[in-house]
Amino acid sequence: PVTHYEQFFAEQAFNLDQLASTLLNEIAPPESEISFRRKLLQDLKRICQQLSPTAKLVPFGSLVTGFATASSDIDCVFFPGSEVTTEDEFTELPSLLEKKLQEEGFNAQLLTRTRVPIIKMVQKPTAENPQEIQCDIGFRNHLAIRNTHLLLSYSECDARVKQMVLVIKWWAKKRHINSPYRGTLSSYGYVLMILHYLINIVQPPVLPNLQLQRIPENTSDDEIYHKQGENIYNIWFSQDTESIQPSLNTSTLGELLRGFFDYYSYKFGWGQSVISIRTEGGLLSKQDKGWTAAKSRAANTVDGNETWEVKDRYLFALEDPFETSHNVGRTCNGPGTYGGVRRGIFFDDMVKLTGSIAGVARIRDEL
Ligand code: GTP
Ligand code: MG
Repeated sequence: PVTHYEQFFAEQAFNLDQLASTLLNEIAPPESEISFRRKLLQDLKRICQQLSPTAKLVPFGSLVTGFATASSDIDCVFFPGSEVTTEDEFTELPSLLEKKLQEEGFNAQLLTRTRVPIIKMVQKPTAENPQEIQCDIGFRNHLAIRNTHLLLSYSECDARVKQMVLVIKWWAKKRHINSPYRGTLSSYGYVLMILHYLINIVQPPVLPNLQLQRIPENTSDDEIYHKQGENIYNIWFSQDTESIQPSLNTSTLGELLRGFFDYYSYKFGWGQSVISIRTEGGLLSKQDKGWTAAKSRAANTVDGNETWEVKDRYLFALEDPFETSHNVGRTCNGPGTYGGVRRGIFFDDMVKLTGSIAGVARIRDEL
């Protein structure tokens, strides 16, 4: 016999399925927009090569994972060519590139108080493309490229990954809880939350843990370890997604979304747990990680001056899959966590989003 709860769950999941299928047709950016972004990337590459002829500009983030929505920015990393030999020459590059971009007519600004130097720039609307494009350029950031490929590999394992990411991103943007600069979580953070749910929580799992697959014998050390400054990171994961067995989980997208909301509303221990997708089981404790009190630490700006980095906060603890000392949830401040990422959304919206079919249509427009 079907219990009342099971029937209720099934109805909510059905409604979410209807919502998701309409949304997915609307959210993905049109092909023309993607091609404008790729063209801008080509133009930027040419500009970078004026500074260093064999420099590379490598995209990462949603343009590569396929998780882009209409408002997505371009993320890319500048790798200087072999002409740049000394650390001093490298240190000068961000401000040289900033100047060059400004000369080329872009609105560009170098931020040095961030964790790593970054140029934020905007391409103004043009006659061909009426929408402005935002672009972030980072420097020598291998790990961002690596974790982008991890996300892409997970997306290749099961078609529901991308669908779920697009729906959750749509919802978080509508809810104004996808603004790391304003106290809430980055898109990358939401993707890690989704992966944790699909790898560790839903049964049977939708995804295997790619970081815990057997390492093939002929794997070189470079494929396992990455050295950055004084730190060595374990960056290995299985990219051989072709040989991964398809999931035994037959849930619809609506059922998975329903389960995701349910998990983060009622089951996940926000106060004591750390999401860690590299770990068996997917969870660590804040206590064991020492992620209990907010900290601030000294850091250097590109010009070598000492500064204080933004405080590390552990209200919401979400471990980066490779840079395990980095809390991706650090951007969530008090109001952002309790009024937003933790409470507002998961409790209230689960009820709203999963209400009647008529309600779903209304929420789509109102949320
Ligand atoms: P949209 O730009 O919102 O479409 O999403 P996105 O998928 O590009 O994600 P986002 O811009 O948040 O992050 C881009 C990439 O930055 C991620 O894919 C990661 O590779 C990298 N990254 C590494 N650490 C962090 C972090 O702490 N916060 C964010 N935001 N990104 C990180
Ligand atoms: Mg992005």
